Amino acid sequence: MRAVQYTQFGSADVLHIAELARPQPKDDEVIIEVTAAGVNYVDIRQRQGAYNRAETRVGGIDLPSIPGMQVVGIVVEAGPLADASLLGKNVVALVSKGAYAEYVAAPASMCVPVPDGVDDTQLAALPTQGLTAYFVLTASTLLQRGETVLVHAAAGGVGSLAVQIAKILGAGTVIATAATAAKRNFALSIGADIAVDYTQTAWTSAVIDATNGRGVDILLESIGGKVFEENFSCLAAFGRYVLFGSTQGVGDPFEARRLMTKAQSMTGFYLPVFFGRPDLIQQGLRFLIDQVAQGTLHAHVAAQFSLTEAAAAQQSLEDRNVIGAVVLRPKLR
Ligand SMILES: NC(=O)c1ccc[n+]([C@@H]2O[C@H](COP(=O)([O-])OP(=O)(O)OC[C@H]3O[C@@H](n4cnc5c(N)ncnc54)[C@H](OP(=O)(O)O)[C@@H]3O)[C@@H](O)[C@H]2O)c1
Repeated sequence: MRAVQYTQFGSADVLHIAELARPQPKDDEVIIEVTAAGVNYVDIRQRQGAYNRAETRVGGIDLPSIPGMQVVGIVVEAGPLADASLLGKNVVALVSKGAYAEYVAAPASMCVPVPDGVDDTQLAALPTQGLTAYFVLTASTLLQRGETVLVHAAAGGVGSLAVQIAKILGAGTVIATAATAAKRNFALSIGADIAVDYTQTAWTSAVIDATNGRGVDILLESIGGKVFEENFSCLAAFGRYVLFGSTQGVGDPFEARRLMTKAQSMTGFYLPVFFGRPDLIQQGLRFLIDQVAQGTLHAHVAAQFSLTEAAAAQQSLEDRNVIGAVVLRPKLR
């Protein structure tokens, strides 16, 4: 089979096409013939070797590696202990690696069948970006109806789904941040109430004004760098702050006792930890698939690429050119 692989860490040009044997299922796994694989910023951090460095380590990567954690496709083979009723079904699955390929092995417990007629391309953004958006609002911060939510980088894959999911779950005001006017307009078009340019020094004042001086109840943060410290000036009393990425570095050290003064909480999120909770993955994927099927959640796919264009696909995210998500299609040549 054809797969995208890297044998060393580095920039996007370490990605190359390899001819490899089709994977064999372990006892509890199925083999999926891939129709669409969503591209994540996480794939880029892994390829850069960030997860193998001490300061940003969240589970290392073994080389050679085939990237890709989110996949849609047909189940063509099942291991002896895997649910055989999945055979022949179109499924959405979360995998730990390997989705940038014609075939991938997935634990059967991470697969959810898809109803007929739902757009495969959109579904490819659900397993990593959609589940992250869903869990940071539910498991991590326990969003309550009417609460105010700040979504950073709201035109990105996770961000654009988080804006919509926050509204579906009953959030009050949703404040989006994004670096360009086109991205801010997009965030407004998908349901954000206010869009703020967080590259401007005084961006937090716009958030304070929009919340009548209170600040936000929930803050979703995947940026880091100087934004990490700036966020605290617009987090309300009892506010919950979830960290789930570091696109601009880890930021300065944080004195945890500062949280006491406004009874705030800070929590971290790392999706692979949820591999230990297939019940939550199943529940989250079913929620997301249902919302897409009903038309209440829309994953905006900005571009589709072939496997040979995987480097260009990742580079487009690194260059911050993408509004929504990008997807690989192994059948495209
Ligand atoms: N912890 C987990 O398990 C987990 C799971 C999934 C994703 N994540 C993290 O969540 C974040 C979003 O992931 P995604 O797949 O949705 O990414 P994405 O679609 O590429 O979106 C990332 C957004 O971050 C902003 N950004 C700021 N600085 C950037 C930089 N130097 N390079 C690239 N983008 C930058 C961009 O928005 P502006 O141009 O508007 O600034 C961009 O739209 C990433 O940090 C990723 O690592 C974490």
